[in-house]
Parts: sequence; C-alpha cells; structure tokens
Amino acid sequence: MAFSHRVYLGLGSNLGDRAANLRYAVRRLPEFGVEVLAASPLYQTAPWGGVAQPDFLNQALLAATDLAPAELLAAVKRLEEAAGRLPTVFWGPRVLDIDILLYDELTFQSERLTIPHREMKNRAFVLAPLLDLSPELALPDGERAAACYARLPEAEKAGVRLYVERIGGKTHMEVIKTVAEMQELGRRWRAEGKKVGLVPTMGYLHEGHLALAKRSVAENDLTVMSVFVNPIQFGANEDLATYPRDLAGDVAKAASVGVDYVFAPEPADMYPEGFAASINLTGVTETLCGASRPGHFQGVCVVITKLFNLVQPTNAYFGQKDGQQLAVLKKLARDFNMPVKINGVPIVREADGLAKSSRNVYLDEECRKQALVLNQSLQAAKKLYDAGERDAEVIKAAVRAHIQTASLADIEYVEIVDALTMQPVSRPEGQVMLALAVRFKTTRLIDNILLGPDE
Ligand code: PAJ
Repeated sequence: MAFSHRVYLGLGSNLGDRAANLRYAVRRLPEFGVEVLAASPLYQTAPWGGVAQPDFLNQALLAATDLAPAELLAAVKRLEEAAGRLPTVFWGPRVLDIDILLYDELTFQSERLTIPHREMKNRAFVLAPLLDLSPELALPDGERAAACYARLPEAEKAGVRLYVERIGGKTHMEVIKTVAEMQELGRRWRAEGKKVGLVPTMGYLHEGHLALAKRSVAENDLTVMSVFVNPIQFGANEDLATYPRDLAGDVAKAASVGVDYVFAPEPADMYPEGFAASINLTGVTETLCGASRPGHFQGVCVVITKLFNLVQPTNAYFGQKDGQQLAVLKKLARDFNMPVKINGVPIVREADGLAKSSRNVYLDEECRKQALVLNQSLQAAKKLYDAGERDAEVIKAAVRAHIQTASLADIEYVEIVDALTMQPVSRPEGQVMLALAVRFKTTRLIDNILLGPDE
C-alpha cells in the first residue's frame, strides 16, 4: 500500500480501562487501512460541555492512509464500534472516540465531517498531544498549533496533565524499579488470571531481544521485560563493570514493540546482605560455556528463579542465541515443576550473518570483519550434515579449519551436543546443537546452529 495521505487523529476515552482502550485503537488501526506513524503521550483532561462524567484520556496520532476523508471517517467509526462504543451515545462517556484533526493540507466540509477539526484550535486536549507529535505543526489557514495553544485560557491548559512520559511510539508503559512492586503486580495478575509473558534480559537491547518481546506481546495479555545486569552470573575476570548499559534507550525500544512493563531492579534489592541461595543443575551446565565459565549457570538459574517467583509468568522467552542457557532453563523449570512454559526463539542475525549481541559493540573494525567466519563455518557444517556426514569429529574439524582462516580468532570450543542434555555426541542423532565460542582479541563471541529434526 502506498499510504499517500498524512492524517492527524485525536483519540479520547473516558470509560473502562482508558489507557487500554487507546492502546486497542492504536493496535487495530492498521486493519482499518490506517498506518500509525507516531503516537503522543496520554493526557488526562476534564470533559467538555458541562455534562457530569469521568475525565478523559486523550492522545494524538500521526498516521498515513489511502482512504479518502469520508472513507476514513467511516473506518474510524467502525473501529469505535468494535471497541464497544454504542453509536447512539454522543455526549456521554465513551470507550473510544476518534476525531480526524487534519488530512494533508485539506480543508473539507460535509454534513458529518469538518477538516481541520472544527474545535481543534480551541481545545487543550487536542492541541497538547498534537504539539508533542509536531511542535511546528502549521494549520491550513497559516496559524501554528503552538500559537493556538498559547492563546488558550489558563484554566483549560491547567486541566491537561501529562499522564505518562513520552517513550517512543508507545502509549503506556511503566518502569518497575523495586522487587516489592514487581511482586505485588505479579500476585495481582495471577489472581486476575492474566496471561503474562516474561522476557529476561541484561539490557542494551537489540533486534534479538526485541524478537523475544514481540513473540511475548503477541502471545500474552501483557509482557514484562526485565533489564538487569545480573552480577552473580559474571566471573571475577569477566566484563561486569564494563557491560554496556542504556536504560532510557532500552525503555524506548521495549515500548516501541508493545512491552507493558520494564522491570529494572537494583542489585542490592535483588541480592540483599546475607543472600545465600544457589542452584546447581548437574550435567547440562557442565559442558560448553559451563566448562569455561564456572558458576555462570548457577547465577543464571538463581536470577531466573527469582524473576519467575516475582512476575509469576505464564510464558518466558529465551533466545536460541544462548542455546545452552535455553536448555539449562528448560531443565530448571522441569526439575522444579515451575508453572511456566519456556519458549525458545530463533537467533536474529545482522544482514551479514553475525549473530546480534550486546557484546558486539566491543569489536573493533577488524574483529567485526573477521567475526563473519563464525556463521560461515556453521553454514558450511550444515551443508556437510545435510549431505549425510554423521561423524561429529569430521564436522567439527571442518568448522575449526574455517574459523582458523581468521587470524584474530582464538577458539575456546567447537562442540556438537545433544540439544536437550548438552552432552557431546560422536554421531549426531535426533536434534543436536553445533555450538562454538571464539575470542576475537578480548571479546568472546558464541554462536550455534541446530541440526536434525526438532523433537
Ligand atoms: P542477554 O544476553 O541480555 O539476553 C537476553 C535474551 O535475549 C536471552 O534469552 C538471549 O538468548 C536473547 N538473545 C540475545 N541475542 C539474541 C539474538 N541475536 N537472537 C535471539 N535471541 C537473542 O541472556 C541473558 O541476557 C542473561 O543470561 C539472562 C537470561 C537475562 C539472565 O540474567
């Protein structure tokens, strides 16, 4: 679709879960032929016109469409009805109200529709969110929205309060900073029977993390993303102190894919003085990364167990990028009968094949170039496997030889393991994982590929 017209829409709701109603509209507009390009924060305003009713939440959207003005009006009316608004209720409280504010540079008048919206220059609840989207917005008659807003009576301006901070294109998202608040929310959701998705991360988010979040948003009533650089999973000589962090950026990115809550606790809140728990899974944690990073998976198991207890998720999402971690956490949930489904999500790669990782920022230009051998060697191994090669040593030797063509590559391991137990196999049967860890100067990268049938 070309989406040749730019439109500004004004949304309002003062019935039911108002923020959820606005979110619903933003989510469903594409089905009605309207692509949402940007959304303002939410504003809370007193109702207009003297009818006694609850305050409104308002929001403005910048959108693109191919619909003509009258078609657009019909489309938003259909969406209002889909949201549960009764067509007869005009002045009363409403679940969802959508006004067309501006349509290109058009001035349009019919019995049912006036563009620009008749009252838009006189209403703080329209101008305030609109100015967030487009501070320099020029109205067709040459006036600027900011000037119109400045002329509004103080009483009306004061009636408009910022409801949530502007965070990307997201309409509503909360950052939870304490363990106590997270626990309280988790408890409430469980009591309400909500389907909750959890996406644990250490932040510095990239498309790999966001792929997990998108899955969770699609499959659950609400999604919590944790952003916590877990100190107890780092070894003494590892990169805890220098691990990249950007909470503000992470919150915006999480918001842009529909995450509802970011949980970002302080280490001292997660691990107060005297914290003494540890979890040790034998077997599955002892090979691959477990062999070279003693204590690492103990730290991962402890933090994930705590997160599960706090959030009480129905689903949790982990990347195949950390294939052993995924296998370890599946085993953790199974062995402890944890009431959560562990979902694996395929590896997201850069255009040139390098697996996305927060640690890729450590790579200098030369290492970044040479790191391409990792995915190339996995692809070559898959070709061998697909051609019938079943001797693990032959496949591993081919991988090592390919990696060694990169002068800066220092191989830590290349291994073929059973996809569930993480134990090395000599002849791959069922699903196996070909996994590798390679250092480029000081940066340690891991990557893997699954071979054989998914069981
Ligand atoms: P972190 O490295 O931030 O990764 C968080 C999640 O994102 C993990 O499940 C990881 O496998 C997934 N992920 C990372 N890069 C990916 C990619 N390129 N494609 C798909 N998924 C990817 O893993 C951790 O944090 C921590 O150990 C944690 C589980 C949060 C416990 O502290």
